Amino acid sequence: MSLLTLNGLRGGYSEVDIIKGIDLHVAPGEIVTIAGTNGAGKSTLVKALLGLLPRVEGEVVLDGKSLTRLGAEDRFYAGLAYVPQVANVFPSLTVRENLQVVRGVKNLKVRMDEVLVNFPVLQERLGQRASALSGGERQQLAFARALMPSPRLMVLDEPTAALAPSLVGKVFDMVKALPAAGVAVLMVEQRARQALEISQQGYILDQGACVLSGRASELLADERMAQLYLGSH
Ligand SMILES: Nc1ncnc2c1ncn2[C@@H]1O[C@H](COP(=O)(O)OP(=O)(O)O)[C@@H](O)[C@H]1O
Ligand SMILES: [Mg+2]
Repeated sequence: MSLLTLNGLRGGYSEVDIIKGIDLHVAPGEIVTIAGTNGAGKSTLVKALLGLLPRVEGEVVLDGKSLTRLGAEDRFYAGLAYVPQVANVFPSLTVRENLQVVRGVKNLKVRMDEVLVNFPVLQERLGQRASALSGGERQQLAFARALMPSPRLMVLDEPTAALAPSLVGKVFDMVKALPAAGVAVLMVEQRARQALEISQQGYILDQGACVLSGRASELLADERMAQLYLGSH
């Protein structure tokens, strides 16, 4: 059973194909990592999935429903949540306002309480501006915002890239907690080893194509891949 299916996804920003026919699956409750070198096309693949790439061929299916002909807004309402790497909260709004302005949330007050149970730090800072939060707290707020509409799948593009090393583990802990809340995860990560350690499946992209995929545990044990793509950390 598949929550998300990408079938032959191909496209780019102009007539040149940046992603060259990607097949990918995410099962319900899974964490799936996309890794690969800089410029491999990971962010472009994420844009294609979200409906943000100018030219795409292939198929995107979420929960049995084809999203292929839908724009980004309708994909959001269909259950795709996205946390951008930067600019993922409104700095001048308070924590409470950041959660209140998320669109598509039924029963705002109840849902806010449900989400905040897992983010006690935010609960204590509801009245503070997001600009006053630390980097780690801001990332928590970005996650909490993404969870407000009860998405089926959370899409993360390098969630640890802009963070101090001491916060990286905390972000992976947040990611790890999502399946228990009914949210599957598709995550692009430079820290491929750490990401695969909390994932069930992994896909390695190179020059817009998938060059390796499989169970995360098998990828982690693959000597050749370790040398090529995983780095030493
Ligand atoms: N907005 C854009 N317009 C044109 N080309 C782009 C754009 N964004 C990325 N690219 C190109 O697409 C390729 C893949 O980039 P990207 O998907 O960002 O890779 P990754 O996320 O794996 O580092 C690169 O060659 C990059 O120059
Ligand atoms: Mg990228």
